[in-house]
Amino acid sequence: MSLSSSILILLFSTTITTCLSSETVNTSMVHHRFLTVDYYAKTCPQLEQIVAFVTSQNFKVSPATAPATIRLFFHDCFVQGCDGSILISMKPGSMGLPEKESEDNQDIPAYAYQIIEKAKAMVEMKCPGVVSCADILALAARDYIHLAGGPYYAVKKGRWDGKQKPMASLVYPNIPHANSTIDNLIKLFSSKGLTLNDLVVLSGAHSIGYAHCKHFVNRLYNFKGTNKPDPDMDPRQLKSLRMTCPQHGGNVGVVIPFDATTPFSFDNAYFQNLQAKLGLLATDKELFLDPRTRPLVQAFANDKNKFFQDFSSAMERLGNVGVKRGKKHGEIRRVCNMHL
Ligand code: HEM
Ligand SMILES: *[C@@H]1O[C@H](CO)[C@@H](O)[C@H](O)[C@H]1NC(C)=O
Ligand SMILES: *[C@@H]1O[C@H](CO)[C@@H](O)[C@H](O)[C@H]1NC(C)=O
Repeated sequence: MSLSSSILILLFSTTITTCLSSETVNTSMVHHRFLTVDYYAKTCPQLEQIVAFVTSQNFKVSPATAPATIRLFFHDCFVQGCDGSILISMKPGSMGLPEKESEDNQDIPAYAYQIIEKAKAMVEMKCPGVVSCADILALAARDYIHLAGGPYYAVKKGRWDGKQKPMASLVYPNIPHANSTIDNLIKLFSSKGLTLNDLVVLSGAHSIGYAHCKHFVNRLYNFKGTNKPDPDMDPRQLKSLRMTCPQHGGNVGVVIPFDATTPFSFDNAYFQNLQAKLGLLATDKELFLDPRTRPLVQAFANDKNKFFQDFSSAMERLGNVGVKRGKKHGEIRRVCNMHL
């Protein structure tokens, strides 16, 4: 996604129904008691400093890496657990597509992967063969949240990298889509051991970052087959989005910031915008319309500290999903895009 290709504005939300197939994997029962904040205290005491160096240097020149890395972490955790499985690249001549190559992950820009690889390379120089890519990704996501103005929280570590085969087909059923219903989202999150509160508060990650037109264009012209735009969208936002995102044709590289008011700062404006019909995806909008999630949207809109606190603890729970340990299912990779 090239930011220069555009950045128009505003809102969104969207449409149509759903998309999770029934075979979501229930990873919440996997044990994660072994994750600890000081897991590498003896084996790699400089770890957090090294990752922080790489992320903060990068953020200065490429702030868009922040949202991209946060999303990379989210998609890693929801598909086969937080095990760096999303980082594996396609091997020439090998059978089966890795997660990275799935349609749903195509939107994640290459620079998000590159920064993890870079941090890993620097960590390997200090502490070879010790730190998993999955842990580096969890740390980088936390750093970027903070760099963008969000909360800082301690990250528990001790995840091993997954050594399973490439499984692009697992991505679609385990990742939320802009056309998912709230029911589907609740089911999907609960299959990962995450609550309704987690669903709403983690959606606050859309306080920064961008979406391509295809994810909300149905709200702009032909909402649910009505041949009209979504009535739950602010008219000025609608106008502005239509200028950037034509119904047909248009530049597929164009992206729009999620947060119409403070697009570059990680804050609770995302929730305030939902109340003002300035949500971009249909799923964002639904969080305010659905009576189950609306009170949470209101609470986070009114109280940034509550948003930050709940977000931090939800990120810890997200980071617990399906974590692996031991040589049976895990490995500590030398480079993040290849199995040992
Ligand atoms: C709850 C349901 C969710 C849905 C339906 C959803 C859907 C999407 C979609 C369609 C995009 C746009 C991708 C693109 O066009 O490039 C996106 C971007 C993003 N998502 Fe979500 N998402 C959800 C939850 C989350 C969660 C839980 C997180 C993290 C904790 C997250 C973090 C992000 C970030 C940071 C971006 C911006 C990426 C960038 O700018 O490169 N999302 N999401
Ligand atoms: C929902 O969106 C996904 C892509 O984001 C698409 O593949 C799928 O066909 C859509 N489902 C429906 C029912 O429109
Ligand atoms: C997933 O497993 C956990 C723990 O066994 C359980 O509490 C939860 O209800 C399950 N979720 C789904 C959707 O089956």
